[in-house]
Amino acid sequence: MNRAGEMIELFRSAAAYINAHRGGTFVILLHGEALAGDNLPNIVFDLSLLHSLGVRMAVVHGLEAGAAEPAPGEQARALDEAAMGRIRQQAGGLGVAIEAMFSQGTSKSPLHGADIPVRRGNFVAARPAGVVGGVDLQYAGKVRKIDAAAIREELARGKIVLLPSLGYSITGEVFALAPGELATETAAALEADKLILFVPGDGASNADGAVLPNLSLAEGEACRDRLLARSDADSRCAGLALQAALRACRGGVHRCHLISCRRNGALLEELFTREGSGSLLSRDEPHLLRPAQLSDVPGILQLIAPLEADGSLVRRSRELLENEIGNFSIIEWEDTLVACAALYPVDDRHGEIACIAIDPAHRNNGLGERLLASLEAEARGKGMDTLLALTTRAEHWFQRHGFEESRVRDLPANRREFYNFQRNSKVLRKAL
Ligand SMILES: CC(C)(COP(=O)(O)OP(=O)(O)OC[C@H]1O[C@@H](n2cnc3c(N)ncnc32)[C@H](O)[C@@H]1OP(=O)(O)O)[C@@H](O)C(=O)NCCC(=O)NCCS
Repeated sequence: MNRAGEMIELFRSAAAYINAHRGGTFVILLHGEALAGDNLPNIVFDLSLLHSLGVRMAVVHGLEAGAAEPAPGEQARALDEAAMGRIRQQAGGLGVAIEAMFSQGTSKSPLHGADIPVRRGNFVAARPAGVVGGVDLQYAGKVRKIDAAAIREELARGKIVLLPSLGYSITGEVFALAPGELATETAAALEADKLILFVPGDGASNADGAVLPNLSLAEGEACRDRLLARSDADSRCAGLALQAALRACRGGVHRCHLISCRRNGALLEELFTREGSGSLLSRDEPHLLRPAQLSDVPGILQLIAPLEADGSLVRRSRELLENEIGNFSIIEWEDTLVACAALYPVDDRHGEIACIAIDPAHRNNGLGERLLASLEAEARGKGMDTLLALTTRAEHWFQRHGFEESRVRDLPANRREFYNFQRNSKVLRKAL
């Protein structure tokens, strides 16, 4: 395929994600290295692209120096007048710099013609963090209230709302807020669909350093503790981001993403591709199993294409899938189809499990087992007493689930007739 062809395919494959995100409210946290790094203009460009695709966005920004956020159990740092003066100055300068990036409109700029209005304002009320452990934290503050109605109004008018990590008190003073806390509180107050946190690494990683693409709340907690126990700055930063994500999920936000601030395009990869990038913490039952519909055919085709190519599955055309979609069940994750399987009636007594496929990123997660159990229940409900499976690669997997080796000649006659001797699939059966 040539470059234009690839681009067209890519664009088409992103359509479902574009539709899913349109009209959604996202809160973005830019902090520390995200603000100081060379990749910031690319991040701002990608945020502008999201805005152009109909995503409503509030962007919280901290300081280039990062820090200021205590880990759980750690004492917050006191901020005297001189420190607060520096923070105010830096926050102001950064706000202007980010506004300027959103405003680039020369014909050479990727934002040419985008015309993106950014709003700042006194949306955040703060109170002093107070005296903690005998230490007066002075200008270190806590979020008292977010004016969600005013932010929503701006978002509905097509503006991007920019929130520095500062809050104003009833005494007319300015307090410095922990960026993670502000982002979390803002996301909860706006009942945001997503909180997106940029981190230096590729996301939240396991003990071996491999990035975890999907985390439940319990897994998120364990991962946060592991990351905060490490001494390197990247792990600590990911641990703090995960901490903020956990708070946001508990506050009602459905999904929080940890995305690399160093890698160009990581945000778009996470939001618009099947493979994703970074880590997703979700408070919902993440995998939804349901009968397939005609609109699932493109997703099934995409899922099974590599397995057809390597010979694990027999080829199925779009027309065939459309005709037989009633036999399929699928599992969705984050509005993406990640698993499918079909139950074909062979005769009144026999059903055949076919086309079982799990997205590689979601394997060994029990999804295959869930699909199989659901199709078994469906077969029983239809009065069938035997399940068949013909497979070239998953013989042992079926055996683990109660299937036994059988022979081609024991297949019901109408199925035997269509047995493909060239594929030479193993025949398995299970009494229900
Ligand atoms: C086979 C397949 C459906 C299993 O789905 P899954 O959701 O990953 O499996 P589960 O989470 O339910 O089970 C995982 C266990 O099965 C084992 N397993 C996975 N694939 C296996 C295979 N092909 N053969 C034997 N065991 C397998 C795993 O090692 C794991 O074992 P463990 O629990 O001891 O660690 C999936 O790997 C897949 O889509 N494979 C490619 C397509 C294919 O071959 N389909 C069958 C054509 S009929």
